[in-house]
Amino acid sequence: MPSKKAKKSNKDILQAPKGTRDIRDDDFYTMQGFYEKAQEVAVYYGFSGIFTPILEHTDIFLKGLDADDDAVKEMYSFTTKGGDSLALRPEGTAPVMRSYIEHGMGSLPQPIFLYYMGPYFRHEKPQKGRYRQFHQFGLEIIGSPKAVLDAIIIQTGYQILKESGREICVKLNTLGNPENRKEYVKALKSYYTKHFKSLGKADQKRLETNPLRILDSKDPDTIEVNQDAPTLISSLNPESKKHFKKVLEYLDAGKVPYELDHTLVRGLDYYTHTVFEYFTTIEEDGGKPLALGGGGRYDGLAKAMGHNKDIPAVGLALGVDRVLEIAKKGAYSPKIKAKPKFYFIQLGFEAKAQAFGIIETLRERKIPIKHSLSKDGLAAQLATAEKLNIPYTLIFGQKEAIDKTVIVRNMETRKQDTVKIENLKDYIKKLK
Ligand code: HAM
Repeated sequence: MPSKKAKKSNKDILQAPKGTRDIRDDDFYTMQGFYEKAQEVAVYYGFSGIFTPILEHTDIFLKGLDADDDAVKEMYSFTTKGGDSLALRPEGTAPVMRSYIEHGMGSLPQPIFLYYMGPYFRHEKPQKGRYRQFHQFGLEIIGSPKAVLDAIIIQTGYQILKESGREICVKLNTLGNPENRKEYVKALKSYYTKHFKSLGKADQKRLETNPLRILDSKDPDTIEVNQDAPTLISSLNPESKKHFKKVLEYLDAGKVPYELDHTLVRGLDYYTHTVFEYFTTIEEDGGKPLALGGGGRYDGLAKAMGHNKDIPAVGLALGVDRVLEIAKKGAYSPKIKAKPKFYFIQLGFEAKAQAFGIIETLRERKIPIKHSLSKDGLAAQLATAEKLNIPYTLIFGQKEAIDKTVIVRNMETRKQDTVKIENLKDYIKKLK
């Protein structure tokens, strides 16, 4: 399709698009380690995995979320050649709910515990901790309105984040049921109308579109007005109060540290009752700290998406990119990544041909190695081993190929032993 914009130069197209990035080297393995740990915790807490497509019908987000939600305003959507409107998923909750409805999961024993992970897309202004392609690990419990499940979600997310080695705190609020919320929005509207002149410019506009969002404004003038804004607690009916109280009791029982924050409203419109966000206690360099994740109860989403009845549900998503930025070094190390202790050197055609068998034998015995099969000379291969700082080399030349032996060389002391291939595993085990 011809673009209206000027064509990009070769220099531009050889860079990842703005707000996206390659995840390489140690970052790749830390991310993999995070996903392994998060899945392990989720599975122990009773969740099962699901992958949904990266593309969904745009309407599930337009109907399920609100037009003023950040995720909707920043959605990448397009019309296909066949005329369908599809979107790169901006979040994972609406897709998981779509899948629950499509596959009739409502007829299974309720509730259904699901976890998911992968890339999500929002056309945001890129900055530290904010990307256009970012990664989430999410949990959803669908099919029950019980407060204990809100607490289980918060607890599971908390335990995954605690593995980062940082102190984590949960900020918590309740939005009550839709009627409470309506009442509250009315009270807020009248309060903000009285203080209209003192609000920041963007917040004056929000008074018409989404007054709740004024509560989590970052504008210093609005923050001052917010000090005395009415709180939702006063608009809660007894049922909603009871629900929230139970959530707090379960969190106390699970020893999850939390702070109540009546300005926490979250950026998505589908929430009812409990809403929460995770933060670390590490100081940010100026500005409000970024949430490491967040979520809440969303009992009305299914109907908003076009389903014939409400389906109670609660969930969260962790922002993987942000979690990895604050995690202590080595906190999330994947099982697959072992630092190789051996550099395999082969010399001559026969040795190169037999090398395939030896590498496979080592792999079967879970001994990771590095090698450069494309190189021939001893000096070049030794130099690479040295550069990579690998402590031992396994040298396999013509003579060794005939004798079925390998020379094991300590790169620091330069001492070396000749070892029968069949004894290699035991020999290696004894090395430090
Ligand atoms: P969310 O608050 O929009 O919620 O996103 C969850 C987390 O994803 C955020 O706290 C943040 O850490 C991360 N995140 C969001 N946008 C970006 C970005 N542009 N760059 C980097 N990280 C980002 C949801 O998405 C809901 N679906 C959560 C949920 C699940 N509610 C119920 N179930």
